[in-house]
Amino acid sequence: MARFRTAGTSRPVASDAFVFFGATGDLAFKQIFPALAGLIRDDDWTLPIIGLARHGDLAALRERASQSLAAHGMTDPAVLRHLHARLRFVRGSDDDVDTFRRLRAELGTARHPLHYLAIPPADFGAVVTLLGESRCADGARVIVEKPFGRNLADARRLNATLHTVFDEARIFRIDHYLGKEPVQNLLYFRFANRFLEPIWNANHVASVQVTMAETLDVAGRGAFYDGVGAIRDVVQNHILQTVSILAMEPPSGHTAEALRNEKFKLLDSVRPLRPEEVVRGQYGGYRREPGVARDSNVETYVALRLRVDTWRWGGVPFFIRAGKCLPVSATEVVVELKRPPFDVFAERRPATANHLRFRLTPDMSISLVARAKKPGERMDGEEVELVAHHEVGTEVPPYQRLIGDAAEGDQMLFAREDTVEAAWRIVDPVLNLTAPPLRYRRGTWGPKAAEGLIPSSEQWFRPVPTRPEPEPGLLRPPTSRP
Ligand code: BG6
Repeated sequence: MARFRTAGTSRPVASDAFVFFGATGDLAFKQIFPALAGLIRDDDWTLPIIGLARHGDLAALRERASQSLAAHGMTDPAVLRHLHARLRFVRGSDDDVDTFRRLRAELGTARHPLHYLAIPPADFGAVVTLLGESRCADGARVIVEKPFGRNLADARRLNATLHTVFDEARIFRIDHYLGKEPVQNLLYFRFANRFLEPIWNANHVASVQVTMAETLDVAGRGAFYDGVGAIRDVVQNHILQTVSILAMEPPSGHTAEALRNEKFKLLDSVRPLRPEEVVRGQYGGYRREPGVARDSNVETYVALRLRVDTWRWGGVPFFIRAGKCLPVSATEVVVELKRPPFDVFAERRPATANHLRFRLTPDMSISLVARAKKPGERMDGEEVELVAHHEVGTEVPPYQRLIGDAAEGDQMLFAREDTVEAAWRIVDPVLNLTAPPLRYRRGTWGPKAAEGLIPSSEQWFRPVPTRPEPEPGLLRPPTSRP
């Protein structure tokens, strides 16, 4: 698999077994089995795959794998056969010494297993300790799932627990946004092109907006979501990771650490949020969702304003919003440039500013919205969107990409300890706000108060529903502003 890797850097040792805790759980069904099948299909994965769970046996695990692949439309019988052939099962509980002794026996000659903790963070401590004591952690790597803690103090505790057995180079913290092709393309587009750099700063950029809109409600995950809320669920991780890629300085080398150093520096320079910089919302009917407290004050929507204290971004506001039950499902980054310093054409309607739009989900596009003259006698223009790149549905699914990378020891797309903690530091002051969130109707763009976060001369950009694929370079009328 092609990876970001330095020519000349010694190749890390590849993992020789894959172990997943929580083998009968939701995450295994929704993400891990399809990812493993994808690795077998695309990368000829031959690693033994060992599932651990409290109940069941190998036959039941194979059946669960079959159901998962069927549910994901992965119908190739050869792939399923290979997956079944590689599967092994260890039954036992996560805090039982004997389970780990049997795991070590099942690992056989494997010396570099990759352990995936697809279990609640509260169980990490026991598992990590027993992995260490049973020697299953020798030469091993570990993948941990988000949410990585509930706040800064908790994340620090979790990191300390992991470090009792695994050093940082062997810990892979998953944020599936980093495995998404359009997020990698954001990184690529920024640093593989020279033309952006002169304008990518406070001299030319007026503001940055990130919108992560979802039409879905909590979709049966009420019990989980009600202990989390939008800030913990997507802002602390997916959105701040995206912001770090968008705004960081160019990495000073080719290694994962060079990139991760710059991401840390950027997040470390973001001011901790103040309550007045945040608008929280809750969609009508949320409190009636199964698993949700009837008096829940958890936010299903958040809009906020970030301040980045660097020379490059001083004074440029970063507006972020994310929510469930919004009118469309789409994640977009919009970088709005300043207006021309003088209005040469004295147009009847003042010209709008140029902006770059990075569409990250559900499809991928990068476009520049600019002004072009409307045909006719007057020097009047309109906005047109120059599409630089547009693709739908060709990417390797994020979990496949990330598990494959972890097995090869490539940390480029994983969140480092300091970055995760820096992100918690930003949101920590607004995690426990006592004011109830503002109500908004399903299918609307959230509470009106969010408009007050941005200056009256500006507006939130609205992502549009998925569009038919245009030809690259096509000029067309732009997408909507309200
Ligand atoms: C997950 C959140 O991490 O990301 C979900 O827990 C959210 O609430 C999801 O819906 C969004 O990811 P994607 O890949 O569907 O954009």
